[in-house]
Amino acid sequence: CNVKAVIPAAGHGSRMQSNIPKQFLTVGGKTLLQYSIEAVCADSRVTEVIVAVSAPDSNDLPDVSELAVSQTVTYVRGGETRAESVCKGVEYALVQGATHALVHDAARPCLPKEALARVIDSGVASQHGAILAIPVRDSLKRAMSLNNNAAHIEESVEREHLWQAQTPQVFHARTLLNGIHHMGAHNPQLTDEASAMQWLGYQPILVEGAFKNLKVTHPEDFECVANWLLAPVT
Ligand code: CTP
Ligand code: MG
Repeated sequence: CNVKAVIPAAGHGSRMQSNIPKQFLTVGGKTLLQYSIEAVCADSRVTEVIVAVSAPDSNDLPDVSELAVSQTVTYVRGGETRAESVCKGVEYALVQGATHALVHDAARPCLPKEALARVIDSGVASQHGAILAIPVRDSLKRAMSLNNNAAHIEESVEREHLWQAQTPQVFHARTLLNGIHHMGAHNPQLTDEASAMQWLGYQPILVEGAFKNLKVTHPEDFECVANWLLAPVT
């Protein structure tokens, strides 16, 4: 098989509220995007990395020759939604001879090598594909909202069978593209690649991810990544 990584990096990061998109924020002189590219390259089964960005010809993108990776890194133009950006990347991967696509968020810079290896093992071994996920730890409550924006507990939700999906997510590339096309890249239910596979009737495997593989969504996530997870050991 031939696994190519697709990194959607064309978002605006509205919840992060920073003046540049979060994937271009730097920690120790390197952008989060750069960390994410290097993280997926840590497994030699990944033969190429395709990064979907909003302006592939921009001078602000990390220079691929400066990346400490042996794989080829290519920028392609992303789309209006995450799914559309993933589509563009997977289409390019197929042209380049990919059998499998490994999709990883640009905003998840702390992916451990062992978790990457686990999800590739499972994702290429099964036609259902595989995703990293972690079991939910906290008690879960369904809220009933009140008039004054306050929330009351309507009921507790059993946590036993619930997992939080992460990336990477690894699938047969052609099947994944079919799934996204069928479901529609603007469908609000298409929040990850597994949803598109499920739409076709597949049941992707859950592979144990890592708590540190968190996605930078809000400013406090960035603080955690910058001050703890990517901080140099002193
Ligand atoms: N993404 C993308 N193309 C889009 C939207 C998102 O490639 N049109 C990427 C983001 O750059 C990010 C990943 O998908 O790496 C995960 O999405 P998310 O965390 O939602 O990022 P944003 O959409 O940028 O953030 P927000 O939803 O807060 O605006
Ligand atoms: Mg988003």
